[in-house]
Amino acid sequence: MTRILNGKVALVTGGARGIGAAIAKTFAAEGAAVAVTYHEHGAEASSVVADVVAAGGRIAAIKADVASEEDAALSVRETINRFGALDILVNNAGVILEKPLLETTAADFDWLMSINLRGTFMTGREAIRHMVQVGSGRIINIASDLGYFGREQFSVYCASKAAILNLTKSWAREFAPDILINAIAPGPIDTDMLDLANMSPEWRKKEEMIPMARIGRVEEVATAALFLANPQNSFMTGQTVDPNGGSVMP
Ligand SMILES: NC(=O)c1ccc[n+]([C@@H]2O[C@H](COP(=O)([O-])OP(=O)(O)OC[C@H]3O[C@@H](n4cnc5c(N)ncnc54)[C@H](O)[C@@H]3O)[C@@H](O)[C@H]2O)c1
Repeated sequence: MTRILNGKVALVTGGARGIGAAIAKTFAAEGAAVAVTYHEHGAEASSVVADVVAAGGRIAAIKADVASEEDAALSVRETINRFGALDILVNNAGVILEKPLLETTAADFDWLMSINLRGTFMTGREAIRHMVQVGSGRIINIASDLGYFGREQFSVYCASKAAILNLTKSWAREFAPDILINAIAPGPIDTDMLDLANMSPEWRKKEEMIPMARIGRVEEVATAALFLANPQNSFMTGQTVDPNGGSVMP
């Protein structure tokens, strides 16, 4: 059986759980060797590694904080050391902050941006440095539907995701035609980040007021990532794919 990503090497930041773990498993099942980075979720990273190995896949877990410039370079270097290449980077690691603006501190802003935006920038830059040398590659940046429309009490998160959408377009222009750079802007997805069990009823109501009237599954985002990673999908750059149940129709 020919698998879509046979012979490819992918790096998924924050791949220990949630959407990142689903992308890592999907890519490995399609024949890619996958490196996942984790910062705090070592036990979850080990469990993703065990699942992929049990399914006959190739995977490595690398401890790296996306907010650290040193670690961003290390994650790219280690992936190449381990698997001999880096064809696909998924900039997935991210954090969220629900806070009224007037209570949001500069430290809150710096913390979130250092992971979501600066982290995407640094790991992306290091991966692209390598991809330029070999003359090909794919970058998939995980944004959010909130990056289009904003949300009260989430302004810093929304701004980080809007910036990721724009950074994707600028990079796509800068590195075409060799490196294809796209984004995914998921709608609400059932992960620890959304924390459905503890989500305020107001927030949940807002999330479900979309045409498909439900929360999405991590596999539904992984499918979009596979679409963007597929070597046959070769005329698409600077675009955003929107697995969002119809929440926004840009
Ligand atoms: N769940 C949703 O509804 C939703 C919607 C749109 C976009 N997203 C985005 O999808 C991505 C994945 O989120 P998720 O829902 O799977 O949440 P999650 O909290 O389950 O996963 C986030 C991952 O990022 C990792 N991470 C956080 N800080 C890090 C750091 N400094 N260095 C390295 N890794 C770090 C976490 O350890 C975790 O593995 C995020 O970028 C998020 O903003 C999520």
